[in-house]
Amino acid sequence: MTFPLPHGLPGLFIALEGGDGAGKSTQATLLCRALEAGGRRVVRTREPGGTPIGETLRSLVLEHGHGEIDARTEALLFAASRAAHVQQVIVPALERGDVVVCDRYIDSSVAYQGTGRGLGAQAVLDVNVWATDGLLPDLTVLLDVDPAVGRSRRTAGAAAEDRLESEPDGFHAGIRDAFLELARLAPERYVVLGASGTPEELHRSIVAALPGGSA
Ligand code: TYD
Repeated sequence: MTFPLPHGLPGLFIALEGGDGAGKSTQATLLCRALEAGGRRVVRTREPGGTPIGETLRSLVLEHGHGEIDARTEALLFAASRAAHVQQVIVPALERGDVVVCDRYIDSSVAYQGTGRGLGAQAVLDVNVWATDGLLPDLTVLLDVDPAVGRSRRTAGAAAEDRLESEPDGFHAGIRDAFLELARLAPERYVVLGASGTPEELHRSIVAALPGGSA
């Protein structure tokens, strides 16, 4: 696969990726706290969502009850949410020199829609490169979790599973492999961590992987 060039803006763009139940939200909280303690201005955000139109698209694509949503429509809804997010939130923050910590980004579409839904990794990447005008993260933190562990974690709180989460374990196993393949293709832009350590251990590894090796 071919990827666009680095963004060249003054800020730092960090994406957190991984299967459902990998612990991304916990790590986003710890990372933002550490960056702020180090004196950085931080914008924490998530996909799908992060803007008013993005949050509306999020409920359309994730909630059950909107009737059939075919794979291409699903991919375009995620990409539309991302386009708004990049234009309205991420690029302005990077232009100000802030750190953007984003829970999921293009890799989630490549893994879930490209591999999980069978649309093809390159096709989904191409749509998303267009949607984002080629904006890639400086660093992607991939929390790699066994799908069965992820499922038991996310159902432990008895929260209902959304449209994607409720897919069978085989679907989630393909997604795990797709994330790992993306990291293998561009190792300089990734840190891959087994999600089995304690939250504090994982956090220390993430901070060590930041440019400069600290928050
Ligand atoms: P997420 O916000 O991580 O779930 P939660 O609400 O449990 O924190 O992600 C929502 C779901 O959307 C998740 O199952 C992954 C899926 N998803 C895609 O399929 N493609 C995408 O491009 C994105 C961003 C998410």
